[in-house]
Amino acid sequence: MKNRRKFIKQLTSLTAVVGIPSILLGQTPWNNTKEVKATPPATSKSPKRALNRPLIVSTWDFGLKANEAAWTILIKDGAVLDAVEQGIRLCENDPNERSVGFGGRPDRDGHVTLDACIMDHKGNIGSVVFLEHIANPISVARAIMEKTPHVMLAGEGALQFALEQGFKKENLLVADSEREWREWLIKSDYPPAVNIENHDTIGMIAMDNAGNLGGGCSTSGMAFKMHGRIGDSPIIGSGLYVDNEVGAVTATGQGEEVIRVVGSFRVVEEMRHGASPQKACEKAVVAIKEKFVLREKDWSNTQIGFIAINIGGEIGAFSLRPGFTYAVKLDTVAEIRKARHLID
Ligand code: GLY
Repeated sequence: MKNRRKFIKQLTSLTAVVGIPSILLGQTPWNNTKEVKATPPATSKSPKRALNRPLIVSTWDFGLKANEAAWTILIKDGAVLDAVEQGIRLCENDPNERSVGFGGRPDRDGHVTLDACIMDHKGNIGSVVFLEHIANPISVARAIMEKTPHVMLAGEGALQFALEQGFKKENLLVADSEREWREWLIKSDYPPAVNIENHDTIGMIAMDNAGNLGGGCSTSGMAFKMHGRIGDSPIIGSGLYVDNEVGAVTATGQGEEVIRVVGSFRVVEEMRHGASPQKACEKAVVAIKEKFVLREKDWSNTQIGFIAINIGGEIGAFSLRPGFTYAVKLDTVAEIRKARHLID
């Protein structure tokens, strides 16, 4: 090894002097850069890809019915992204789900503004932020992914694009959300706490029969947020990340904290380096807590949760505080589970 290094060193100095063609040194002559092999995703602990064992995991109790809708597609050998989109749309369309889509709680100025993103097994991504008047931001995100050369559209531009694509413009503020907002206006405490009553985000990650992974997430964000505030949910890497060689992850809770540690990407990277989905989620939550400590900030009004799957079909979930639930669908199982948490 020492001799080889010595030889390369000698050869490199020789090149400088006599101009040995770079191709002989493993460099491409046209750009003179050396191609380095990426760290292989597989470790000795890496699981084998599960085939013909579809799996869906979603955040919170409402994930249960979203999973059922997605499952009808997966069991017919459907594509993972179709399943994810349909599952999430079900929550978005439900006026009683007040943290997502139609019926979502407004910002502090009374506007319902929605964020969503979607990612497939090939690394295709689409995201929409600060979208008003369209009940299904997950489908707008997918249309951005499939029909534009871009990955993210915001606000008025996103609305214009959605209308051009045939999405229906509607009032998303339902009476119950408006009433809650008017009650909140009396004190206007800011920022509002993110807790079990005011939780947010349908995040869904899934694997299809072919073993391909995909995911999406959609939210109306923190209730009574500042107008224009964006959380983690539409940010690829924070609210969602999919790597078809490793796993898929999505997050829920206080988006600012998830963004601070690039949460979902971080969980995928932990899995890439050998952690189980459970351990990987735990590490990300600990990292978030450490940032609170470092910044000398109080976390008592904060909730964060991650769910993760790997290519072997293993599942993980973990949250900062108690109360985070997630829904699992596979084979004959369709159930809501309580996530373990870091701090009581
Ligand atoms: N996790 C959603 C948000 O913070 O907006």
